[in-house]
Amino acid sequence: MEPQARSRTDTEEFARYYARLGAKNMAPLWEVLKNLVTREPVTPVLPAQWKFADVRPLLMESAAMISAEQAERRVLVLENPGLPRASSITHSLYAGIQLVMPGEVAPQHRHSQAALRYVLEGNGATTTVDGERLEMYPGDLVLTPSWHWHDHQNETKEPIIWMDGLDIALVSLLDASFIEHSNRKEQEVTQAKGASRAKYGANLLPIDDSPATLNSPLMRYPYEEARSSLEHLKAHSDWDACHGIRMRYAHPQTGDWAMPTMGPAIQLVPKGFATAPYRSTDGAVFAVAEGHGVVTVADTTFKLAPKDVFVAPPWVWRKLHAEDNLVLFTFSDRPVQEKLGLWREDRG
Ligand SMILES: [Fe+2]
Repeated sequence: MEPQARSRTDTEEFARYYARLGAKNMAPLWEVLKNLVTREPVTPVLPAQWKFADVRPLLMESAAMISAEQAERRVLVLENPGLPRASSITHSLYAGIQLVMPGEVAPQHRHSQAALRYVLEGNGATTTVDGERLEMYPGDLVLTPSWHWHDHQNETKEPIIWMDGLDIALVSLLDASFIEHSNRKEQEVTQAKGASRAKYGANLLPIDDSPATLNSPLMRYPYEEARSSLEHLKAHSDWDACHGIRMRYAHPQTGDWAMPTMGPAIQLVPKGFATAPYRSTDGAVFAVAEGHGVVTVADTTFKLAPKDVFVAPPWVWRKLHAEDNLVLFTFSDRPVQEKLGLWREDRG
């Protein structure tokens, strides 16, 4: 019986019955089923943009208010307007913009949440992971997988700013959050500079390599290599109608995504190209590496400039128009959805 068809007497009877159920920690599925199992994805996540021209001065203001060490991490969280105060940019993911000033160290810790860093500004500051210092330059992707010790240091003369992506909400959903701090502000450097790149970043693998884990052993993916691959493909391959040229960052031992919970990717939309509408079940966070253009997400249009960030909610149509060669870094929870057999895409 539909609730609106009930008589007053029935309604009171239902209410009394539901109260008795509630007292025993039960509830009637028929009142909520339509909202639990929807015909298509329904999300509170909204399209949103953070222009670097707005973010940077506010971030720099924080440098005078709190040090990286006091803050543990000096970050402005990018909050999805559809998820106020949830510290989430999508339902599953967190994103923030982090600043480390010259001479500062963001101290060592490790946590069950996996993190990726996409460098927006600065040259040569470092993230240390597993005893290896990884230099950070604009457009580089640096990984700090789950439960790996990491600290950040800026021994250069200029600020470094990057976008953090973490699987915080996903880990929270599973109640699997742990963090550990260290007595040592910075971890000991035990590996030579370039160690993981030499072992895993040259299309070679150590001959007697230990079994792979789900996390890539390659901790830094330089921008110049990704960019040159995109440029070659732009010149010599067909362009995807929905993406232009889009590549994912791979785990060198397995060929799978570089991380199990977050899938980083990079795409080039050639100058003048307008993509066909596209949607997928993974809500995605984008940062502009290069170029200018326009993105339309649902009914919202954002003009894009370098270092701007925007988010496209799950299962919402999006299309891009590149005014000049537009390079976008992106990450989403697609690896999780694929493993669970949930991921879908739709091409307009
Ligand atoms: Fe961290």
